[in-house]
Order: sequence, then C-alpha cells, then structure tokens
Amino acid sequence: MNLDEENRVNNLRKILLGDSIRDTFPIFAKYGQKRLCFLDSAASTQKPKCVIDRLTDFYSNEYSNILRGAYELSANATIRYEEARSRISNFIGSKSSDSIVFTRGTTESINLVSYALEDYFNEGDVILLTIAEHHSNIVPWQFLAKRKNLKLVYAKINNNYNLDIEDFYNKVKEFKPRLIAATMCSNVLGSVFPVKDIISGAKSVNALVLLDGAQYVAHNKVNVNKLDVDFLCFSGHKMYGPTGIGVLYAKRELLEMMKPFQGGGEMISEVTLDDTTFADIPYKFEAGTPAIAEVIALGEAVNFINQVGIENIYEHEKSVFEYAISRLSSISYVDMYSSKSSNDSGSVISFNIDGVHPHDFASIADNFGVQIRSGFHCAMPLLNYLKVNATNRISLGMYSDKQDIDMLIDAILESRKIFKVN
Ligand SMILES: Cc1ncc(COP(=O)(O)O)c(C=O)c1O
Repeated sequence: MNLDEENRVNNLRKILLGDSIRDTFPIFAKYGQKRLCFLDSAASTQKPKCVIDRLTDFYSNEYSNILRGAYELSANATIRYEEARSRISNFIGSKSSDSIVFTRGTTESINLVSYALEDYFNEGDVILLTIAEHHSNIVPWQFLAKRKNLKLVYAKINNNYNLDIEDFYNKVKEFKPRLIAATMCSNVLGSVFPVKDIISGAKSVNALVLLDGAQYVAHNKVNVNKLDVDFLCFSGHKMYGPTGIGVLYAKRELLEMMKPFQGGGEMISEVTLDDTTFADIPYKFEAGTPAIAEVIALGEAVNFINQVGIENIYEHEKSVFEYAISRLSSISYVDMYSSKSSNDSGSVISFNIDGVHPHDFASIADNFGVQIRSGFHCAMPLLNYLKVNATNRISLGMYSDKQDIDMLIDAILESRKIFKVN
C-alpha cells in the first residue's frame, strides 16, 4: 500500500465511527437534508461509490468477454475477473481460488449444490435443516427430496430465538443425516447460529455441511478453512456489491466429485456429437458468459469491506444493534422476535407493534422517511412456527447509525397515534 492508499484506508476506518461513512454511498447524498433512513440492508445493501465507479469504468474502458479472446482487451478482462475470484477466496479464508464458483446469488448457489450433489444421496437419506431457514435453503432441498425420495428433518429454535442445540444434536444422533444445511444468521430473527457446533455435529455422523452466509459475510469474519466447512453460499448484493452475482465456496474434492449444474460454453473440455468431457473446476460450474462486470465490481466491494475493516463493521453494527434493542425494549407495546443479546445476534431485529399491522407500519414508517421491511421475509415455516403472519424487520449496514434508530422509534410512536391505540 502506498502512502495515499494508506491514508485513505485509515480515514475510512475512522469515519466509520462517525456519520461520514454515509458520504461514500452516493444514494445518501442524493437525499440531502431529507435524511434517507435505510433499515433494509438484509434485503440488499446500498452501494459505495467505488463499486458503482468500478462498474462504469469497466464498461467504459475495459469491457470485453473473457476467457475466449486472444486479443488484449479480453486477456486483461480475464485477469481482472480472476483477480476478483482470488480476492473473494482470500476474504473468506479459502485455501484456493478454484474453490470459488460464481453464481447469481445465494439462491443459485444452493440450487447448484442440491442438483450437482444428487448422486451422493441414496433413497431414504436424511437432510437436516433448521426451522429458521430462508426459502432458498428449503425449496431446493424439497425438490431434491422429491427426486431422490429423501427425508427432510428440521431442527427447532429455542426461546431465545436461536438454534435449539439440544434438539439439533438429538436429531443428528437419531437421523444420522447425510447433509446438514443451516443459516449462519437468520434473516428474520437476526440470531447468529452456533456454526462450530453445527459443523461438529455434522462431523460426528460424517455428514456434509452447507452454510448459508447471505446474512453473515458482510457483518462478521468468516474463515472457511478454519471452520472446515464443506459449502458456503452468499450473495454479492448483500455485501455492497452488484445484483446478479453470488458465490459458492466448496471444498475442491467435492467440486471435483459433483456433476455439472448447467451445460454450455466454457464448462467443457471436449464436445463430440455424442458426448462431452468437462473443464476443470471451477469452470465446470460456470457455463456460458458469466456476469463479468459484476464479478469485478464484487471484487471491488470486497476490497472496500477490507479497507473499512470487517472487525470495525462488526463493532459499529453491534453498537447500533444494542442501541436499537434498548430503545425498542423500552416500549411496552413492542414485541421482539430476536435475541436481546448482541453476543448471539447479527444486524437484524424483527418486531411487532401491538395494534398496528406490520404492512401498515411499514407504509407509515415510509412516510416518515424510514425504510423497513414487513411480511414473512421468505421464511414462512419460521413464521408459522412463531405463530405470526408477518413481522416488521429492521436490518443494519455499515452506514446505519443511532439517528436511524431514533427515526424508527419516532415512527413507531406516531403509528400508535395514527391508529389511536392507547
Ligand atoms: C438467509 C438468506 N438466505 C438466502 C437468501 C437469498 O439470497 P438471494 O436472493 O440473494 O439469492 C436470503 C435473501 O434475503 C437470505 O436472507
């Protein structure tokens, strides 16, 4: 790092603790004095200028398809694409960038595994999930279970809105699953699941483990190598990168064993009229022209997170989370569906307001400039389990601060007045 770069990085780290990190996200400037209170980063984060610039710059000055051109533009674009792969590989502590497969997002990563791993399962095998999974970590397994006649079993959550580890271990022992797929952080409850326990439970019965890192990787450090996890799935758009790009990390030997997900250009070694042999990993899983600019811009997003420092982001969001919990707890008619301890929570809080339906609250909040999510958050089985039809959900990013929470609380107080609830 040269001196200029070092100063820029130090500056970014410092400003994270103040208001000015928002200045690196153009959307906040656009709103000017009328503050944009964006509390829906779990759905998708806002984008920093460097990511937007990287996309524009690539299309304006460097664009070409990759892998297939003998000419300079294509060779350079290929280098940038592969640089992004190794940056992402380093970011999650992977030993080799061959373990990084680009997909469209967490959903496609999980679908890829559920299809490409099909031959590993025998009729009657069990897949253990948790009741708190996003639909994208349920539906692909249901498809697979129907195709191969497998059984899906779900571990419960406890009164603290985290994984019921006793129930989990009992189910591991009883059903001896061949695969366990669990979220690292619930997109509804905000609970950070005990990932090390999940992995050691899986190892005790020789099961493979897939972690859904969609709500985790932009908030906390991950090291797939230290965790010794088999699969990790995450989405670029939830970590300050573009939409349409995601990542599947898998151990090399698993990728080598798995069958291809889609057929087409670039995933082949040789094609005859009757048969095909496949390219080496990870290309075997990247059929067709990939999302080149998005991959490169995701690499930029990872660079940005590294510069701000994932530890700084974690500490900052933790302090905003604690503030939100203390303010929401002080309102007697707010019920929370989240652990009140920042030690086992991420950056998401679900709550309901007695007398105000979540959909009504979300639109009232919007009138106050507060943007939150309401509904079932793509987690119907969890909401059924909690016996609620919908919740309000706030979720934080590195740009969220206490002022956002104050605006939320004002909107909650006003909503009760509008609905004339005492
Ligand atoms: C926990 C979790 N898993 C998976 C997904 C799916 O991510 P994507 O829509 O980017 O594929 C989400 C999206 O909200 C999520 O929160």
